[in-house]
Amino acid sequence: MQDTILITGGAGFIGSNFILSWMKAVGSAVVNLDLLTYAGNAGNLASLEADGRYQLVRGDICDAELVGGLLRTHRPRAIVHFAAESHVDRSIVSPDSFIRTNLVGTFNLLNQARGYWRELNEAERSRFRFLHVSTDEVYGSLGPVDARFTEQTAYAPNSPYAASKAGADHLARAFHHTYGLPVVATNCSNNYGPFQFPEKLIPLMILNALEGKPLPVYGDGKNVRDWLYVEDHCAAIRTVLEQGRTGETYNIGGMSERANIDVVGVICDTLDELRPQPGAVPRRKLITFVDDRPGHDRRYAIDCGKIEQELGWKPAERFETGLRKTVEWYLDNKHWVAGVRTGAYREWIELNYTQRSEL
Ligand code: NAD
Ligand code: TYD
Repeated sequence: MQDTILITGGAGFIGSNFILSWMKAVGSAVVNLDLLTYAGNAGNLASLEADGRYQLVRGDICDAELVGGLLRTHRPRAIVHFAAESHVDRSIVSPDSFIRTNLVGTFNLLNQARGYWRELNEAERSRFRFLHVSTDEVYGSLGPVDARFTEQTAYAPNSPYAASKAGADHLARAFHHTYGLPVVATNCSNNYGPFQFPEKLIPLMILNALEGKPLPVYGDGKNVRDWLYVEDHCAAIRTVLEQGRTGETYNIGGMSERANIDVVGVICDTLDELRPQPGAVPRRKLITFVDDRPGHDRRYAIDCGKIEQELGWKPAERFETGLRKTVEWYLDNKHWVAGVRTGAYREWIELNYTQRSEL
């Protein structure tokens, strides 16, 4: 077995941040298996193109032969599984690909990992890890004064996205319980930071506000999310990979609950300061309330006491400083933004925002 790790979905938002930070923090070889869907961008890792430690393989996690072959060729000591269809609104419009990638794809990875792991010698088997990356959305929706989600909270997924991730979590758990595969799982709150595809709240609002377009806030804008800076998530995953107990789940959160309307307000104020509009017209005027998302979860909040007490991880970034860094990144990376706003992106924006009442 090699020191190599196999990453799935490493050309997406969190996966590419993870690989870049892994190279700095650890530095062992990475094989990145990514289908390069609309959400995957090989250019996120352009800085590693000439780096012999990094290899991108374009392919599907549902492809059993490909996954089995990669495991036997590269003999990784771990799989870190990020690949997914990740956008709730898209899962409402067309859930099929969510079931395929998130559920069937995760099953295929687990099944291939099981075959590979069984061929390892005893020392290698005890070192191997399958780290399954998941979301707090599997726990459903909280009321305003409900206690935050813990690892004991019952699953109650509400969107097709959340349900497909919940199913994947159950498979990961079952592969540990039944076959002894050394699985560790993480359930994380909403991430933000560089390289996030501008269909998600924060980058969408930054770019619309910058261009003087309406800022489409769903419903009353009082839905609450618990925001975590992506680098903190990456550090948490490295911690769980090295120290997490197999068969366990670790909740990861930002301890930064914010209502959507407040997040959008801070983005407006930050841009007004960094790039004032002509006549200093405040961007908050662009806020437009639109039809709510069907089945929209009201509040997510993570209790991350377990990972803090057991493994010593807690978020390092404050929401206000992390958000400012994120706004600055989008201002400084216009080329990246132009590259991901393709025709398919524009079609999605048209579908989601001009035909909302038909969803
Ligand atoms: P993303 O949509 O930005 O990236 C997903 C990546 O997976 C893309 O590079 C895409 O090309 C790849 N992919 C999709 N289908 C594939 C397939 N069949 N085979 C191989 N690759 C495929 O997602 P993200 O925001 O980076 O999320 C990564 C993981 O973290 C997901 O599992 C998601 O559920 C989880 N998560 C995300 C958040 C968040 O706020 N973004 C929070 C908690 C957990
Ligand atoms: P999103 O970034 O899609 O993440 P998730 O649904 O996985 O939490 O959305 C974050 C919150 O922002 C969610 O409550 C929905 C809301 N939202 C809007 O109000 N307007 C938008 O245009 C988008 C994309 C999201």
